[in-house]
Amino acid sequence: MSRGPMLRTEHLNANYGMFQALFGINFSIERGEVVSLIGANGAGKSTLLRAIVGSVPVAAPSVLLDGEPVGGSAEIDQLSRGIALVPEGRRLFPSLTVEENLLLAAKNGRRGPWTPDRLYRELPALQKLRSRPATALSGGQQQLVAVGRALVTNPDFLLCDEISLGLSPVAVETVYELLGTVIEEGMAVILVEQNVRRALSSSSRYYCMLKGNVVLEGISKTADYARVSAAYFGD
Ligand SMILES: Nc1ncnc2c1ncn2[C@@H]1O[C@H](COP(=O)(O)OP(=O)(O)O)[C@@H](O)[C@H]1O
Ligand SMILES: [Mg+2]
Repeated sequence: MSRGPMLRTEHLNANYGMFQALFGINFSIERGEVVSLIGANGAGKSTLLRAIVGSVPVAAPSVLLDGEPVGGSAEIDQLSRGIALVPEGRRLFPSLTVEENLLLAAKNGRRGPWTPDRLYRELPALQKLRSRPATALSGGQQQLVAVGRALVTNPDFLLCDEISLGLSPVAVETVYELLGTVIEEGMAVILVEQNVRRALSSSSRYYCMLKGNVVLEGISKTADYARVSAAYFGD
């Protein structure tokens, strides 16, 4: 019942120098699916996303797009394949304006429905800020730019690393509203989220990681919250 591009990892290991951060991760996501990745600080969630987009080195055959090995590629090559990361901590270019951040990303990505203009239509507040340096924005506004920057590359797979971290409740709502639109239009999303309840209610499947391993996975709707939190803390 494959519905198109499928992204998966097969026995994925990742290291930072001598330190092994991921141990044989098997993960998969299909087109249009929303999958959440939960786990405590240091579990390896960001490393898994980075390994998929190529900013952490991995063995080539362990990241597959439609069965084709794409591991070990540069982040820009993954963009052209339709895989984009909204990194932890946003990482906007501080010397560039909102508009310049978006245009630069669009140039490195693929053509499709998401353009800076479309983003401004969805988020009129952002349009008013387009000529401001990205770092002059509030945390919530910066996060919208960070998500927008990934969106305008028109990925099939959008990888979101803790996009609600440190934001006000109103800002979180705005970011998740944008994400809702994206999901409705069929983009697949990997959601790394500290808030387990939000993670489960926003996704169809989940993986729970602990110390570089997947310790539990399943269907979000029927997830047993007590069991998930036990896995989360390694009890
Ligand atoms: N750049 C790095 N250099 C060395 N170790 C790192 C680096 N980034 C993460 N780690 C280590 O890898 C493990 C997984 O980290 P990370 O993927 O950031 O976890 P999470 O996103 O789940 O909090 C942790 O033990 C962390 O200390
Ligand atoms: Mg992280």
